[in-house]
Amino acid sequence: MTTIGFIGSGLIGATLARLSIAAGYDVVLSNSRDPKTLLPLVAALGTAHASAATPEEAARAGDLVVVTIPLKSYRDVPVEPLRGKVVIDTNNYYPQRDGQIPRLDDESTTSGQLLQEHLPESKVVKAFNNINFRHLGELARPTGDPHRAVLPIAGDDTAAKQTVTEYLDAIGYDTLDAGPLAEGWRYENGQPAYARLYVPAGASPQSLLDMGPGHPATRDEVAAALSEARRRSDT
Ligand SMILES: NC(=O)c1ccc[n+]([C@@H]2O[C@H](COP(=O)([O-])OP(=O)(O)OC[C@H]3O[C@@H](n4cnc5c(N)ncnc54)[C@H](OP(=O)(O)O)[C@@H]3O)[C@@H](O)[C@H]2O)c1
Repeated sequence: MTTIGFIGSGLIGATLARLSIAAGYDVVLSNSRDPKTLLPLVAALGTAHASAATPEEAARAGDLVVVTIPLKSYRDVPVEPLRGKVVIDTNNYYPQRDGQIPRLDDESTTSGQLLQEHLPESKVVKAFNNINFRHLGELARPTGDPHRAVLPIAGDDTAAKQTVTEYLDAIGYDTLDAGPLAEGWRYENGQPAYARLYVPAGASPQSLLDMGPGHPATRDEVAAALSEARRRSDT
């Protein structure tokens, strides 16, 4: 696996692109506009390993493809070029941005399952949605580093989760398998494993976008937060 395609190249996309290049991958970036709008980002990342393209081209170029756009636009993600591919879904549901999505409101599905429905022949894995983009950038550590952070992943295909685990390992993170996509709710917005898990104990972040320095949540901390989500849901 050598190329990571990006559908969406904003705060999370650009951060993951930087980590990916540092790990030795090439990246192909896209957004909803003319690829020329991404040339400043390509220049900042280094033109030897980054390029800008349309979403269709980025989807086709990626050995692994990251979808990282406002959830309301998930139906824009190109289907055909992603057939058979592993797709990482970082999207979160914010009704104030995305509008009401009744099947998420009534908890009959998860955001990861929505993208999987849209991409029936792809293998969607939910990852990165529960960490602020700045923390994602700053907490990456080499394999074996005692201060490495753990990120939960969820997906319905075991081999796809292994591929994503290897990618996360390469860019600086350990993973904890939270189960199938239906379990992705346990680290979505409002749950204990969401964003604040990567804030030091006692810190009071001003907002989700400005959270101060990060804290590398351990496997036990992530597991406990996921269990707490289940406990709250059962009571
Ligand atoms: N920010 C965080 O810390 C954070 C953390 C975890 C997860 N997330 C989630 O991850 C997703 C991305 O977040 P972000 O903060 O990176 O958002 P962002 O900074 O607003 O970037 C979104 C990117 O998607 C592109 N885009 C929008 N509509 C598109 C479409 N229809 N097709 C292709 N590209 C499109 C945007 O470019 P154009 O508008 O120019 O097309 C932009 O490059 C969201 O669902 C967010 O909730 C965010």
